[in-house]
Amino acid sequence: MEFENILTENNDGILQISVNRPSKLNALNKATIQELHEAFWAAGGDDHVKVIILTGSGEKAFVAGADISEFSGYSSEEGKVLAAEGQKNLFDYIANFPKPVIAAINGFALGGGLELALAAHFRIASENAKMGLPEVSLGVIPGYGGTQRLPQLVGKGRAMEMIMTAGMIDANQALQYNLVNHVTSQEELLDFADELAGKILKNSMVAIKSAIKAVNANYEDGVNGFETEIEEFGRCFGTADFEEGTSAFLNKRKADFPGE
Ligand code: COA
Repeated sequence: MEFENILTENNDGILQISVNRPSKLNALNKATIQELHEAFWAAGGDDHVKVIILTGSGEKAFVAGADISEFSGYSSEEGKVLAAEGQKNLFDYIANFPKPVIAAINGFALGGGLELALAAHFRIASENAKMGLPEVSLGVIPGYGGTQRLPQLVGKGRAMEMIMTAGMIDANQALQYNLVNHVTSQEELLDFADELAGKILKNSMVAIKSAIKAVNANYEDGVNGFETEIEEFGRCFGTADFEEGTSAFLNKRKADFPGE
């Protein structure tokens, strides 16, 4: 697939998707959001993609936010549509994506950029990364899930402080806040992401899909996560991966999961 605003590269089942507008600090304009949606949609149906690493091109930014130049003249109604479509087509899409998505935050992750990282299943960051939700400094609030997903990770008080001050935290503070799981040097970030993806790849992707669904169920209104867990646990028993995983263990050999 040919894209203008993103780069994709598949190495042995690990698909790296890089937002690639370095002259605009990888800000998310509508076209980039659409291309990201298309790349994820294609990855969902591609058996050669097992794990996705989401990052930003260049050394300065992961994504410095939604493209302010695009929405500065919007009406209330247009703003609402922008948030609703973005959430549906990209941010919720990633959060519920059936394959693991790791955000490798390599620089500024601000506004919609931090929200993109928050939508990923987990995050790692390089030492130079800076994260924040500066929307109230522009007279608006986070609209791509930031008011919901940030408190889930860092707690309500810290999220309120970050949103109200519009300030940035550095990678080590983000680690302390549980916003990112690991911090590396900038040079090591993508290798480390690959290493994590490699560990994931050894496991049953069918079971991982069920695990994503069960963990996410805890954050869905009107859904009982324990029931989702029971449902998905049972579903695993009917899969070839379960048969292979258990028989490999009992026969003291490495599992070779057939997948779906
Ligand atoms: N939307 C549109 N363009 C953006 C952008 C965004 N969110 N973030 C950066 N850019 C553009 C700048 O306008 C500039 O473009 P230009 O060279 O054509 O003028 C280019 O990217 C480089 O950014 P610049 O501000 O010159 O870099 P800096 O190192 O001085 O500052 C930041 C870096 C991240 C502090 C600053 O760019 C910034 O505050 N960006 C906006 C962050 C934000 O509010 N995001 C939330 C949006 S909802």
